[in-house]
Amino acid sequence: MTILILGHKGQLGRLLYEYKSGKPHVGLDLPEFDMTDGAAVMARLRDIRPELVINAAAYTNVDGAEANPDLAYAVNAHAVAHVARACRELDVPLLHISTNEVFDGTREGQPYDEWDQPHALSTYARSKLAGENAARFHHHRLYIVRIAWLFAPQGNNFPAKIVAAADKYGALRVVNDEFGNPTYAPHLVQAIFTLLQREAPYGIYHLTNQGYASRYEFAREVLRESGREHIPVTPIPHTDWPRPSQPPLRAILANRAAAALGVQLPPWQEAVAEWARRHRQETK
Ligand SMILES: NC(=O)c1ccc[n+]([C@@H]2O[C@H](COP(=O)([O-])OP(=O)(O)OC[C@H]3O[C@@H](n4cnc5c(N)ncnc54)[C@H](OP(=O)(O)O)[C@@H]3O)[C@@H](O)[C@H]2O)c1
Repeated sequence: MTILILGHKGQLGRLLYEYKSGKPHVGLDLPEFDMTDGAAVMARLRDIRPELVINAAAYTNVDGAEANPDLAYAVNAHAVAHVARACRELDVPLLHISTNEVFDGTREGQPYDEWDQPHALSTYARSKLAGENAARFHHHRLYIVRIAWLFAPQGNNFPAKIVAAADKYGALRVVNDEFGNPTYAPHLVQAIFTLLQREAPYGIYHLTNQGYASRYEFAREVLRESGREHIPVTPIPHTDWPRPSQPPLRAILANRAAAALGVQLPPWQEAVAEWARRHRQETK
């Protein structure tokens, strides 16, 4: 019996695919497999007959979604419906990856629990929320795992961009009024498979590293851990860093459901330290 990873060439999908769960993993991704093709989704799932499907495939260009809403919805919502329908037909559980951006981040002082009412701001966020709803509509053997600022040892993520920009410009300006939970992909993958091993009940889970940070604090920690503490960083408001999409300013997730089952990721500062160690090794 195999575990099927959708989007296995992506930042998270790759680590899910490579994880040694004790079961064979099969991966599907573009260009060989296009999840927006409902017939192809059904045919491949029938063929593979997995015991579990993990969907890490998505249209993840948050700013690009503003100019390409049809594509964002096709991949993040309609394709998720295809996957959930196929899983229901084969009676296979689905673990679907979603985002903190389903929340508008306007609530002061309290992070969002799994059962809080989402309200998405950007096109990307609305398409991801539609994907959650589509999955729930079609399938009940469903885990929705919401994550936040994802970073893997490889990939063009926030820490990698900060290090590259520090080396290129020698000084940085970073937004200090947008807050989130850094989520280190190897810790996340471990937590996902632990939840599955513990036969966690179906439902919504918030899995991020413990704690939260502003973009500025995250950047400072990345610079410190990567030996670039001397790089000057100017804190700026998000209004000084205009983007096509509007990010939620405080879409901070609380992990209550998984923590109740004893599953928690390490503090985000430990995650940054580990990322910096691996990043140093890989860029030597
Ligand atoms: N990155 C973050 O900070 C973040 C934060 C919160 C939540 N998330 C969520 O976490 C999940 C994984 O994110 P990630 O950063 O690992 O994403 P990623 O690196 O962009 O990987 C997504 C993968 O899905 C593939 N894909 C796109 N459209 C597809 C289609 N029609 N059919 C099949 N595969 C398709 C992509 O292929 P191409 O590269 O060829 O397009 C890519 O290999 C996503 O659900 C995302 O919404 C991410």
